[in-house]
Amino acid sequence: MENRKIFSMITGLGAFVPDKILTNHDLAEMVDTSDEWIRTRTGIRERRIAESGKGTSFYAAKAAEIALKQANLPAEELDIIIFATVTPDMYFPSAACFLQEKIGAVNAAAYDISAACTGFIYGLNLADGMISSGKYKNILVVGAEILSRIINWNDRGTCVLFGDGAGCAVMQPSDGKRGIVGTFVKSDGRLNHLLNMPGGGSIYPPSEAKENPEKYFLKMEGREVFRHAVTLMGDAATRVLQGNGFNGDDVNLFIPHQANIRIIEAIAKRLHMPDDRVYVNLDRFGNTSSASIPIALHEAYHLGKFKENDLVLLVAFGGGFTWGSALVRF
Ligand code: UT7
Repeated sequence: MENRKIFSMITGLGAFVPDKILTNHDLAEMVDTSDEWIRTRTGIRERRIAESGKGTSFYAAKAAEIALKQANLPAEELDIIIFATVTPDMYFPSAACFLQEKIGAVNAAAYDISAACTGFIYGLNLADGMISSGKYKNILVVGAEILSRIINWNDRGTCVLFGDGAGCAVMQPSDGKRGIVGTFVKSDGRLNHLLNMPGGGSIYPPSEAKENPEKYFLKMEGREVFRHAVTLMGDAATRVLQGNGFNGDDVNLFIPHQANIRIIEAIAKRLHMPDDRVYVNLDRFGNTSSASIPIALHEAYHLGKFKENDLVLLVAFGGGFTWGSALVRF
């Protein structure tokens, strides 16, 4: 039984990925790795790579057009654009403002949020709260990344993991029955050093890139991140389920952040979720950070993996650390 009023619902979903595919075999020619290692340790077979010269908002705009069409909402009617990304087009202005220009959302307020791989869940949480306040009606929540631009292509420990892409959702007031049943978000800044990109900000500004080039790439302590991801994504799932009077059996489809198949399997086991209720597409896209959940959600919707009235559980974890979950009645 839902024990909270439902305020907002997803009325449109969109996703768009670059055409260029980089396979594990391609990577094996670039660094000391193999298709076998990548497949068995991560579940990834290939990932998409953005075209040079294109910014993150280019792909986000393609995804947004699809979502707005499904929602039957002209871009001019958007009140807010929330753009979750760690790879914006520029340091400023925000990727959201570039996106606003591209789709013609002339009446919106647009801004970015930074919550790494949990960004889309943070965005849903924010949009749900804004709609519940009664102040806003039409919100576009975007998760989009061009991670290939911040990856050290000589570091086999990270370069095999990530990919580029964009996904988004249009959020509008609920019909009272369907929509965001609950969200849970959390962060722990004490663990910021385990997954980050030190360079480019105020501590290591762009002007110092020549002195410390290694700081201007994504860095990750893989094993530590793995350990925390399993525990904290499991906790986030449990919190949003129990907090709203549900358990794992009530969930029709579980869409976890697509980082590593072993992480997904460990969480699914903890939640007693059988394989056919867990959505996985990281074999084709790798880890696209904030775009991972909206791309998977859009794909699962079009493949008929869930239907009207089904309960879908979204869970993510990322740098910060940040983690969170959303329970959605479709
Ligand atoms: O999206 C945010 C959340 N991100 C994540 O959740 C990622 C979490 N971490 C992971 O998915 C895993 O830790 C990795 C996939 C990054 C690494 O897998 P692992 O099983 O934890 O491997 P490891 O780091 O413990 O390394 C094992 C071995 C090492 O060699 P030695 O020291 O045992 O000789 C690595 O050097 O595997 C080696 N290795 C590789 N070998 C071939 C690391 N990367 C590669 C590679 N190809 N690409």
